Amino acid sequence: MLDTEIAGIKMKNPLMLASGICDLTKESMERCSGAGAIVTKSVGTEERKGYTNPIFYDTGCGVLNAVGLANPGIEEYVKELQEIQVDNVIGSIFGGDAEEFGYLAQKFAPHVVALEMNLSCPHAKKVGAEYPVEEISPAIEAVKRAGKPVFAKLGMENIIDRAQAAVDAGVHGIVAINTVRAMAINIEMGMPVLGNRIGGYSGAAIKPIGVRCVYELASNFDVPVIGVGGITRAEDIIEYMMAGASAVQLGTALYYRGETVFEELCRDLVAWLEKHGYGHIREVVGVALKR
Ligand SMILES: Cc1cc2nc3c(=O)[nH]c(=O)nc-3n(C[C@H](O)[C@H](O)[C@H](O)COP(=O)(O)O)c2cc1C
Repeated sequence: MLDTEIAGIKMKNPLMLASGICDLTKESMERCSGAGAIVTKSVGTEERKGYTNPIFYDTGCGVLNAVGLANPGIEEYVKELQEIQVDNVIGSIFGGDAEEFGYLAQKFAPHVVALEMNLSCPHAKKVGAEYPVEEISPAIEAVKRAGKPVFAKLGMENIIDRAQAAVDAGVHGIVAINTVRAMAINIEMGMPVLGNRIGGYSGAAIKPIGVRCVYELASNFDVPVIGVGGITRAEDIIEYMMAGASAVQLGTALYYRGETVFEELCRDLVAWLEKHGYGHIREVVGVALKR
């Protein structure tokens, strides 16, 4: 009832672990094996230490993070994927130009079923949301040369123009959205909470923004859309899928509910589908686009 296929990738359910949460080590990824696919931490060409602490803050109505794309670099990271016991690993990469993206894709390709290009970290300048729109197509073409399906992960900013560039280059799917650029102030100290001052906002509060982006993408383009942002319950997944998502990703939900969230949400999804007379999850996809 939940089996899903995107760009030729067969998944037991449409749930994926989102990039950046519980995905730096083999063990933490294996704890999420209830997901249909696991997206790795975004990895670059070299080790990156990330920003100074604090890098994470629970606002009480969602989470702020400014990890700063900390990662060990591609050569070290792929060691985590040796003999990993999960169904599908999708390699997330970030880069400063098409050449870097192409290099990372070639290094990741033997270990993953697809590549996800992070073009949307809201606090990482050119290796994130400020990656120039006119450089998106060449970067996607470089990544496609690795011979795996390519997904472009976009944020809420300028999403249609950026998606158009990705679609023009023959991207296999669009992932939306990343965290939303945001900040918090410690009023006792009179200073920003996060070490980087500005970070990315995630969790239930951003779900309506993600749903709007997915709806607009699915209305404008004929490529699979993977929805992410604020999913904590089975009903949130149904909402994203009715807006046009073929699959979804979960990040902050793991902070609140732990890694068993995948199994729990699959159970709840089946119960919801049965109760509402659907025979398969695919019947829900795009329902709201037709109304
Ligand atoms: C601590 C943390 C680290 C993240 N790191 C990455 C990352 O490395 N690459 C990326 O594409 N997205 C990253 N994200 C964004 C998530 O993948 C996701 O797009 C976002 O959090 C919205 O989904 P959620 O509300 O389910 O968390 C990160 C999010 C959090 C909370």
